[in-house]
Amino acid sequence: MDSPTTPLISRRDALLAGAATAAAISTSSAPAAPATAQAAPAASAAGFRAKLSLNVNGTAHALDLDTRTTLLDALREHLQLTGTKKGCDHGQCGACTVIVDGRRINSCLTLAVMHDGAQVTTIEGLGTPQNMHPLQAAFVRHDGYQCGYCTPGQICSAVAVIDEVRRGIPSHVSADLTARPILSAEELRERMSGNICRCGAYSNIVEAITEVAGSKA
Ligand code: FES
Ligand code: FES
Repeated sequence: MDSPTTPLISRRDALLAGAATAAAISTSSAPAAPATAQAAPAASAAGFRAKLSLNVNGTAHALDLDTRTTLLDALREHLQLTGTKKGCDHGQCGACTVIVDGRRINSCLTLAVMHDGAQVTTIEGLGTPQNMHPLQAAFVRHDGYQCGYCTPGQICSAVAVIDEVRRGIPSHVSADLTARPILSAEELRERMSGNICRCGAYSNIVEAITEVAGSKA
């Protein structure tokens, strides 16, 4: 009698049997693949495209995009607006923050086709080197950056934060959800917590935003 640990079939026999089965299947008279099978991927790829329009920084753009294109890639790769940065591409760093219809969003986490007809503001739409937005000027004054990679997202986010406070939108740390929020350091850090700065310029960023919010919020 075989012991419980004695295999009934050797590993070599099992491999040979498997190879023989595979060969038999590959040479069997299975029906030929339909003639259209080869064309299917191309047809599917065409089906993934969509026409849409985006108004970016006051200019209307007609786009014909793969429906899987993120808003971030639409801006950077199709409209050549490379001021908006791709940091993590996973919604974790805030480098890709833009303002869509008045609200800040992570453009890497949303598809361009979801924003057909939307008004998009990127860092290029806020100001120019010759005519900076007050927040851009404050970031320069307060040294609110080091490498600058996070800066476009920080500034777009801060613009929307000041607007949120002005409109009385509470945050997670607001003590009274019905009172008009004050942009305290705690409120500011909470509201800007989605924007990571790997250079650690946080204290200067807070100073820059506080200065502008003080005159606007
Ligand atoms: Fe979008 Fe990091 S690139 S959150
Ligand atoms: Fe370098 Fe913020 S300035 S990541």
